Amino acid sequence: MSGQPVPTPKLRSSRWYGKLDRDGFIHRSWMKSDGYPEDLFSGRPMVGICSSWSDLTPCNSHLDELAEHVKRGVWEAGGVPLVFPAMSLGETQMLPTAMLFRNLMSMAVEESIRGNPIDGVVLLGGCDKNTPAQLMGAASVDLPTIVLSGGPKLNGQYRGEKIGSGTDVWKFSEAVRAGEMSSEAFLAAESCMSRSKGFCNTMGTASTMALVVEAMGITLPQNGAIPAVDSRRAVLAHLTGRRIVEMIHEDLRPSDILTGAAFANAVRVNAAIGGSTNAVVHLLAIAGRLGIDFELGDWDRFGKGVPLLVNLMPAGEHLMEDFYYAGGLPAVMKELGDLIDGDAPTVSGLPISDQVAAAERFGSDVIRSGDEPILDDAGIAVLHGNLAPDGAVIKPAAATAALLQHTGRAVVFESIEDFKERIDDPGLDVDADSILVLKGCGPQGYPGMPEVGNMPLPQKLLERGITDMVRISDARMSGTAYGTVVLHVSPETAAGGPLALVENGDVITLDVAGRVLQLEVPEDDLAARREALPALPQEYDRGYARLYIDHVQQAHLGADFDFLVGSSGSEVERESH
Ligand code: FES
Repeated sequence: MSGQPVPTPKLRSSRWYGKLDRDGFIHRSWMKSDGYPEDLFSGRPMVGICSSWSDLTPCNSHLDELAEHVKRGVWEAGGVPLVFPAMSLGETQMLPTAMLFRNLMSMAVEESIRGNPIDGVVLLGGCDKNTPAQLMGAASVDLPTIVLSGGPKLNGQYRGEKIGSGTDVWKFSEAVRAGEMSSEAFLAAESCMSRSKGFCNTMGTASTMALVVEAMGITLPQNGAIPAVDSRRAVLAHLTGRRIVEMIHEDLRPSDILTGAAFANAVRVNAAIGGSTNAVVHLLAIAGRLGIDFELGDWDRFGKGVPLLVNLMPAGEHLMEDFYYAGGLPAVMKELGDLIDGDAPTVSGLPISDQVAAAERFGSDVIRSGDEPILDDAGIAVLHGNLAPDGAVIKPAAATAALLQHTGRAVVFESIEDFKERIDDPGLDVDADSILVLKGCGPQGYPGMPEVGNMPLPQKLLERGITDMVRISDARMSGTAYGTVVLHVSPETAAGGPLALVENGDVITLDVAGRVLQLEVPEDDLAARREALPALPQEYDRGYARLYIDHVQQAHLGADFDFLVGSSGSEVERESH
């Protein structure tokens, strides 16, 4: 050891560690308290591992173990791994909804990356909101970045049947309400659903986002599907650690990888896998950070005519463990052929077509061939009309085909609390042709746009064997949910959107083929109702919720904060002392 650090101007971290003055002393000396030898500060890439590990995010509780495997790869490739936390969002634990905090986490990620002496970053995440939050933050800094997902749980097993995270919760709870399942059996299923560490084993939002980022080329192949507890997930972590060091040397950044072609591929893959509607808001927000020309209508444009190839809950029968054994995402992308832009770049340095060229499909039921799709046209549909001037979305793959063209009378709920109080009232004026309308659940209104759009059906209709109805709201729904559910109505109720004007008994037309969502009420009547709308109460006068309400954009823009759109780069001008 020379005792003298060698300045390494090529690396960003040399701005901290390459200086021989008082500032360099401070930056190095305090890190040395952790036992780092002198030469680690002399030109070795500093790799941040941004971990969303937390005991309060059960889907991510194994990420500390996975980080150790990333570290091995980083050390091996000549880098220095440095794990740091940046918030963690547990979908099943955080109230009032984890989505309220997605933008907050993205800010924590962005500023943690920019403010620290790192040359590149591994985004280690899982559970629905962590992946988009991490990518939004990293995109706004644009240092070399690679994503590593935590991986899905093993299949749930209950009384000889596979059961899936979320999807079977909704099914079982409806079965209990319909009198078809006992409370004892319901509670027994609870322990059978979550059998291992990892994120939801259905094609929920976490699986969707892990696969979508793989499709966008910002992960190594098979990032989405390898089960959390499979040793091959640890191998992937090791390889990810190696690769980020190489990416730093190559100066390969998110802006080089997350191009318009990557977003188009993501939309097509989302259709083919039967992915979550939540991917809509997340990809719009990520695109906004990168300045990519990508808007809500592109979900319809790119997704149109893409077949559903993956037979996973909630649109199908199987689970993520089965999906990996059947070939995973590379097999799906290979099957999509020309529908995928094969020239899109990836973190490997190769085009995506090279990554999927050797993929194989095992069996014929979990991943269908392009010649035998489950559905010919599985893209998320974007609806417009006087009820959703800026758009709304529906996932036809999870809907009842006969309800995709439907006209019915509205049964209106002013809030989710109002809904819960009245939905099982035997006197509620509702029948199978009614359309359930829920207000006040948009980004500003809730606040945070919760996953309540898949409203449970009235008990008296469940008991008559009704299994689906048209439902409309400004909310989101869980990626594990299903039904003929119109979501993300924009503008939302709280922003004065037309949803606020709907009254009981109004006729609404849903025409998915025509992409129409129309409130059949004369414009003059709607104008009069608008005049009579009461002012909304201001329930939050301080703190993050106030900031959120003041700055969150509408769903059709991705529900990011207006002041977070775009990038600030990685430069920091001033010193701390
Ligand atoms: Fe964490 Fe589903 S609740 S991934």
